[in-house]
Amino acid sequence: MATKTYIVGNWKMHCSPAEASLLVNRLVTDVKRVSSDTVVVLCPPVLDLTTVRSELRGHDRFSIGVQNIYPMDEGAFTGETSAAMVKGLVEYAIVGHSERRHVFGEKDGLIAQKVSASMRNGLTPILCVGETKTDHANGHAKQVVFDQLEAGTSLLTEEELHDLIIAYEPVWAIGTGENAEAKDVAGMFARIREWFETKYSKTISQAIPILYGGSVNGGNAKMYLDLDDCNGCLVGGASTNYKDFAKIIEAV
Ligand code: 13P
Repeated sequence: MATKTYIVGNWKMHCSPAEASLLVNRLVTDVKRVSSDTVVVLCPPVLDLTTVRSELRGHDRFSIGVQNIYPMDEGAFTGETSAAMVKGLVEYAIVGHSERRHVFGEKDGLIAQKVSASMRNGLTPILCVGETKTDHANGHAKQVVFDQLEAGTSLLTEEELHDLIIAYEPVWAIGTGENAEAKDVAGMFARIREWFETKYSKTISQAIPILYGGSVNGGNAKMYLDLDDCNGCLVGGASTNYKDFAKIIEAV
């Protein structure tokens, strides 16, 4: 059984280095309690990584992640950042976020390479999966998520699966205030575990942490964190509000 709880803050394209410094400073001061099995992962824009790293010195319950990486380690890839370049600064990498899939047109093949590049460089990939509103309305959520899991894990060895995190983020719940119902999230988590059990083993299926993301805030986080199968939350908007994010961390 996965034993840790992950509270991951995806800042998206928010915060200059000065704002990042202030936000982290306020957050670590405001958080009264981080439960012993909880890992807080801040995922700021790449520009802020060194600032956030230095602000978090001495706060060992906090880790850092990137929001995206490029699969190659170096080369002529204008504007991109590789896992090899950030591995001294971060421990996690969000891969296949719905905004990467739907705004930037990232396809499953590229996402699989990114998951593999994260592993190769010693970063824990947080592979995001989730259906659109149309998929949801048409009853295709499970198949869409299964296809994303199949593709996203296709370049990993069974051994590497032990260092993978899955984030279920229904696209229609992201940034909309329309958070998914706990019973539906529990249902999808059970299906995700079934998928891993059928394809690999019960041990792997139970060991993989699964997070929920989509309009999580200080008021509703506990509802997800209390689900038997839930190993944490991936938070967007509320992670740039230190008071709200502190509440989410304390809800574990
Ligand atoms: P919101 O929490 O703003 O809905 O964003 C969720 C998300 O995309 C986290 O990666």
